[in-house]
Amino acid sequence: MKSSIFSRRKFLGLSAAAAGASFGAKSLLLTPEPLLAAENMAGGDHVRFGMIGIGMQGSGLLGQSIELPGVECVAACDLYDGRHTLAREITNKPTLPVTRRYQELLANKEIDCVVAAVPDHWHKQVVVDAVSAGKDIYCEKPMSHSPADGVAMVEAAKRTGRIVQIGSQRVSSLICAKAKEMISQGMIGEMMLVEGWLGRNDPTGAWEYPPPFDLSPQNLDWDTWQGTVPKKPFDPYTFARWRCWKEYGTGLAGDLLVHLVSGMMFMMSINEAPRQALSAGGIRRWKDGRNMPDVHGTLFYYGDLPVYMRLNQGTEMPETYRFQGSKGILEVNEFGLSFTPQSGKDTAPSYYANSFPHAMHAEYEKKWHAENDPKIGQEPMVEAVSYRGPDFDDMKPHLWNFFQAVRSRKPVVEDAVFGHHAALACHMANESYFRKVAVTWDESSKSIKS
Ligand SMILES: NC(=O)c1ccc[n+]([C@@H]2O[C@H](COP(=O)([O-])OP(=O)(O)OC[C@H]3O[C@@H](n4cnc5c(N)ncnc54)[C@H](O)[C@@H]3O)[C@@H](O)[C@H]2O)c1
Repeated sequence: MKSSIFSRRKFLGLSAAAAGASFGAKSLLLTPEPLLAAENMAGGDHVRFGMIGIGMQGSGLLGQSIELPGVECVAACDLYDGRHTLAREITNKPTLPVTRRYQELLANKEIDCVVAAVPDHWHKQVVVDAVSAGKDIYCEKPMSHSPADGVAMVEAAKRTGRIVQIGSQRVSSLICAKAKEMISQGMIGEMMLVEGWLGRNDPTGAWEYPPPFDLSPQNLDWDTWQGTVPKKPFDPYTFARWRCWKEYGTGLAGDLLVHLVSGMMFMMSINEAPRQALSAGGIRRWKDGRNMPDVHGTLFYYGDLPVYMRLNQGTEMPETYRFQGSKGILEVNEFGLSFTPQSGKDTAPSYYANSFPHAMHAEYEKKWHAENDPKIGQEPMVEAVSYRGPDFDDMKPHLWNFFQAVRSRKPVVEDAVFGHHAALACHMANESYFRKVAVTWDESSKSIKS
């Protein structure tokens, strides 16, 4: 694990030198850190984990985790028996111990840590129970279903000293690390405004997922699935499409905004809740009974920095950040980043001088050109730099960061405090949408005020 950190530092150091040099229109390939290099192994020690929730995300996490060296899944838990079968298929272990009760994994001394990908309304309980049972945990984003849940989770992590990694995987991406470095070096100048957006335009992108054909109260513990939410009769659509309802999910904010916010916090080296949030949105396209908006834009203040994030499930738009600074624009998207510098100076005589009488205008223009025109043959070239890297949504480095922390007891890249701050931005975005006013986070009462 030391060498994992070393390799990242080495990468950052090298690229810092490169960034310090003058850059023309360049496109460089980001070199992935040697995640799987044998030197990263701590003496061949083995981490044995239990998987909780083997649904859409959990199945991916499980498959990726077992590809990491020295990482083994030794048990799996889900409330739906079909996913016990899936866990055994993914691990290729026909006798993998499976259960509906995650508490059995927490009580199992053979298990070092757990990876949890359960719906948002279960995050707090699973995390608090896991750390209280002495297990480290990787828990999916958004960390919490409510601000109070997040407060309880931070408290439990601190009280127990266990490792908690929250699953907004882009904070472990090379692309975001490069952007963070460029921002911290001042390449963008004074930050003026940060924008981020993502749009989708298809039923799957709008969470209209197909429930498993065989789902029934016989093979699913529907009662437990609902948790502390007021109970309703078995509904396979609620099981598959829980994101649509605030009782279980956190809407576009917790599903997608949290990625934009976590990435932005990481790249900007911010670790706090926004000072204020003001949202607009609505259920504009998917009138399928959901109570969460399908269009949701939020204007935040982080300190005095305006940050404008917008999500739309009715129009496709690639996920993008635009950091607007006094020295240019840094655009970050899923597969790379580009920086286009701006001089911040006039490139032509001011058009205000068009309002001068002719003689004065002519004199102004003559003087301006004499003072500002470049020498012939020395006209400045517009410079830009771009990098391409592995998908910033790659979860493997993020999982690796967690498993290495389990071995080394070193801090993870996205702990409970960071996860709480990112989730608070999402809760504030939702509260502002529902209350139809700007909201603030009040640290003394640990609540959202308007
Ligand atoms: N990081 C990402 O990019 C990313 C992507 C997708 C989902 N997620 C997050 O992952 C989590 C899971 O999302 P999903 O789409 O996989 O949901 P899902 O509904 O497909 O799967 C969740 C699984 O958890 C099981 N479950 C629910 N409560 C449980 C409990 N108490 N004990 C054991 N199992 C339980 C369910 O039976 C289900 O199989 C969510 O928090 C979501 O926001 C993250």
